[in-house]
Amino acid sequence: MFTLKCIAVCTPMLTNASAALAQAPQLGQPIAPADIAAWDISITPDGMGLPPGRGTAIEGEAIYVAKCQACHGEKGTKPGDALAGALVGGMGTLAPDETPIKTVGSFWPYATTLFDYVLRAMPFQESKSLTADELYAVSAYILNLNGIIGPNDVIDAHSLPKVRMPNRDGFIPFPRNPK
Ligand code: HEC
Repeated sequence: MFTLKCIAVCTPMLTNASAALAQAPQLGQPIAPADIAAWDISITPDGMGLPPGRGTAIEGEAIYVAKCQACHGEKGTKPGDALAGALVGGMGTLAPDETPIKTVGSFWPYATTLFDYVLRAMPFQESKSLTADELYAVSAYILNLNGIIGPNDVIDAHSLPKVRMPNRDGFIPFPRNPK
């Protein structure tokens, strides 16, 4: 009885619904690949997504001094009055009986994350303003200040994923879906 009633009531409703759909305002438009590209900037730990370009620590120093030092301190070591955290130092402090100092050098497991982070978020007040070459160079400078690469090492899409960070093995995998 209920089923028959439903057929009787629902069929006209469905017909009305498709009529309403046909009359719906045609909102939106297909997005162009170039528009997606501007948002699709993620770089994976293995370096997928890194753009063409290159830089060395020597080249990166001037960029750091001009665009980063005011907040992160000279050579990334954050003096007391710096606005943001240290990017350098703290090596060996992630150990028992030590006060952990977590910096790019002491804590971050992948060098590619440094490029990704600076690309999307820094300089703080002017994010996404650096060119790929500037990003490679300033990343190289921070890696060099941490003693991880040499001052003339060329950092690009090929070499950055190969940089081995000191705390690479300091993370315990967390199974999100334990069986
Ligand atoms: C106006 C101040 C300011 C400037 C300039 C600035 N930063 Fe930052 N930076 C910050 C702040 C604030 C944070 C912390 C943001 C947060 O935790 O959400 C930060 C965080 C970072 C981090 C992450 C540190 C961590 O251990 O979590 C990196 C790397 C970094 N900045 C690099 C740079 C680089 C490279 C430049 C220059 C191209 C730069 N910053 C310029 C304020 C600044």
